[in-house]
Amino acid sequence: TGAFTYDPGFTSTASCESEITFIDGDAGILLHRGYPIDQLAEHGDFLEVCYLLLYGELPTKAQKDDFDYRVTRHTMVHEQMSRFFTGFRRDAHPMAVMCGVVGALSAFYHDSTDISDPYQRMIASMRLIAKMPTIAAMAYKYHIGQPFIYPKNELNFAANFLHMCFAVPCEEYKINPVLARAMERIFILHADHEQNASTSTVRLAGSSGANPFACIAAGIACLWGPAHGGANEAALNMLGEIGHVDHIPEFIARAKDKNDPFRLMGFGHRVYKNYDPRAKIMQKTAHEVLGELGIKDDPLLDIAMELEKIALTDPYFIEKKLYPNVDFYSGITLKALGFPTTMFTVLFAVARTVGWIAQWKEMIEDPRQKIGRPRQLYTGAPERDYVPIAKR
Ligand code: CMC
Repeated sequence: TGAFTYDPGFTSTASCESEITFIDGDAGILLHRGYPIDQLAEHGDFLEVCYLLLYGELPTKAQKDDFDYRVTRHTMVHEQMSRFFTGFRRDAHPMAVMCGVVGALSAFYHDSTDISDPYQRMIASMRLIAKMPTIAAMAYKYHIGQPFIYPKNELNFAANFLHMCFAVPCEEYKINPVLARAMERIFILHADHEQNASTSTVRLAGSSGANPFACIAAGIACLWGPAHGGANEAALNMLGEIGHVDHIPEFIARAKDKNDPFRLMGFGHRVYKNYDPRAKIMQKTAHEVLGELGIKDDPLLDIAMELEKIALTDPYFIEKKLYPNVDFYSGITLKALGFPTTMFTVLFAVARTVGWIAQWKEMIEDPRQKIGRPRQLYTGAPERDYVPIAKR
């Protein structure tokens, strides 16, 4: 026992002070450094948002050019790293590959494991932001048995990612600007979300002085869970499982049943008890992508729309304030863009890397920073004497 407050799930414990992201869950507001997420997603580009999260202000044109240059010069990974991929089984989940390969960056870039040096911290940040899409695309290409495609630095962050995923050496790959913009929005919408489970994991790992590559690998591992970043994959799998709009009532009944562990994936949020502002933008983007690709009457989208309608009017969901979250619509969009469900959380990790780094950087630069060390309320056996095995 001890004089500690028990707060399971940290629902009322602030783990840090932070100037990066503000959320008002009741009002459905999300601000990065004061800027509303809808304005950033509408007008900004991803690297501009990265700059904002890392340095606190939107960049001037000169700062933006310099930042773009600094990031893009790190887009390649060491050629030896390609052998890591072939060490995994082809059917390995790409998130398993990400946990391993990103953690291994510290074995390739020793110089930027020195976290006491601000310059090396900056280089590590650039390396991580730049290499994550390359590693994610390599995981995808390996998964589907195609050759790796090198980054093309004249393309912007999102377009380059689509290029590395969907180009093949035998034919020209043309970037569709509507799809590239949708990819960019997905990255912007997932860039940071204050002290969620994976970000808290990165901060906790970093508080011990662990190197940034190890910390981000820890964040990736945490993000993988279906209650967190894995929800976009789980949401799409659930739509497939429902299969037809006629089956929706049966699944709604299961979601409400206390004795059934089933939950509507893509619904509910620890903080947003009104509406997830990212979901609004993502819903619009999903329609733009489906329109551009001429996908009409997509059965999964029909189920999604009907599910949303029912859930928003059903007293159970209203009372418990369960609204569709960002993952509900991002899954549909990513599927239309051509990604398999196993890649969905990987794309979330690519986007969230900058948030993880910005939060890690803020923590490291705070002079009050201490190792994170939660306490517990001990509920086990009182002190007792050891009993030899023959007498037990
Ligand atoms: N379907 C049905 N019932 C639900 C759902 C759901 N999706 N979510 C919560 N509830 C019920 C839950 O059973 C509980 O009922 P009661 O009060 O009767 O026990 C009540 O609502 C409160 O739920 P909770 O689990 O105590 O709430 P939480 O804040 O701990 O959990 C959550 C938040 C997001 C983990 C949860 O809503 C959930 O599991 N949603 C489905 C998974 C999902 O979409 N996750 C993505 C989150 S957003 C992106 C991210 O963070 O990565």
